[in-house]
Amino acid sequence: MRVLILGGDGYLGWPTAMHLSAQGHEVMAVDNYLRRRLAREEDSEALIDPPNLHQRAKLWQEVSGREIAVRVGDLDDWTTISSIFEEFRPEGIVHYAEQPSAPYSMKDRAAADLTLRNNLGVTFNVIQAMAAHAPDAHMVKLGTMGEYGTPNIDIEEGWLDIEHKGRKDRVLFPRAASSLYHTTKVLDTDLLWFYVRTWGLRVTDLMQGPVYGVETDENAGHEALQPFLNYDELFGTVLNRFVVQAVAGYPLTVYGKGGQTRGYLNIRDTLQCVRLALETPADEGELRIFNQFTETFSVNQLAEIVRASGERLGLSVEVKSIENPRKEREEHYYNPVHTGLLDLGLEPNLLTDEVIDSIMRFVMRHKDSIHADRIFRGVTWKKG
Ligand SMILES: NC(=O)c1ccc[n+]([C@@H]2O[C@H](COP(=O)([O-])OP(=O)(O)OC[C@H]3O[C@@H](n4cnc5c(N)ncnc54)[C@H](O)[C@@H]3O)[C@@H](O)[C@H]2O)c1
Repeated sequence: MRVLILGGDGYLGWPTAMHLSAQGHEVMAVDNYLRRRLAREEDSEALIDPPNLHQRAKLWQEVSGREIAVRVGDLDDWTTISSIFEEFRPEGIVHYAEQPSAPYSMKDRAAADLTLRNNLGVTFNVIQAMAAHAPDAHMVKLGTMGEYGTPNIDIEEGWLDIEHKGRKDRVLFPRAASSLYHTTKVLDTDLLWFYVRTWGLRVTDLMQGPVYGVETDENAGHEALQPFLNYDELFGTVLNRFVVQAVAGYPLTVYGKGGQTRGYLNIRDTLQCVRLALETPADEGELRIFNQFTETFSVNQLAEIVRASGERLGLSVEVKSIENPRKEREEHYYNPVHTGLLDLGLEPNLLTDEVIDSIMRFVMRHKDSIHADRIFRGVTWKKG
């Protein structure tokens, strides 16, 4: 299959590009380095600085004998995206190309404006480019479990069958996001649903939980092929951050009561889920939604898992509750359904002692690259 990876330089994009290439798909990766630029501007760079997309593709060819085509350009620009679609005529599209940080989106007006315009602008352009140049293609779009918020009822996979005043219907599951970033994902879903039902596009919207880890089958033993691992408050996801904090001797920063519960997954499982979704596409006129995670943990449970791993590896890890900079429930009901991807064949890689210890060992090898002052910045959800 010809697969276009939008956001192909990112934490998930580059490993996905290699994974699909290894499976024999013809892959083109597109990125404008927005993530690297923002990280540089905010002094929030990753633990290791990976080579650029062209260099990564060269290294991948040396290691695997396979080619990944690379284009550098802004997908929010119609001329750029339109010419890429016209040239490549994708059969599958993986859309990762958004500003993915909740704290960044809440930092100030300019960051919020960039997040809103970029995320909606790219999704709109992908829809238009599909309609113009690849109407039969299937888009796999990355949404987030954060679209649902933390309702006091079970979270279904995207849709809810309701009975109201004696009549029945199927509606999008109610959304209640807790940051502007997550809200852009809600708006994306609505935009996709509008064009799916109006133009008959094929779309899978993956409600993904926070991802952890860096190692995959394709990059094992090749550090230059590994994705960037951010540990700062803006771009780091919680488990990756806690591991770096543990290695740096920085107390694990639990926000408030630490009962915030979310669904998590190993980066290896992101690759599996995206491949499975691509290889069994949504039907014409179908917006298929899967909840993409393998296990749920509260922040307190994650802190305990990292503390215990640190102890096994000879580190003394402190856990500290700090005032919650976010506006979110710190104790709540959480029971999301997640059977769709398992039914497609997902074989979960769970967060075992061995897995967390191996991430910890990876970070310990790079301990000298940690800048402790990047860990906490105090971005709050307050107005202005
Ligand atoms: N990492 C996670 O834990 C997680 C969890 C849930 C959902 N997601 C979603 O998955 C996707 C990928 O996440 P990630 O962690 O790899 O983020 P990332 O920032 O590492 O990757 C996104 C990539 O898209 C690129 N990009 C953004 N805007 C672009 C534009 N206008 N033109 C071209 N390229 C552009 C960025 O430069 C970046 O390389 C995002 O949409 C994110 O919201 C991620």
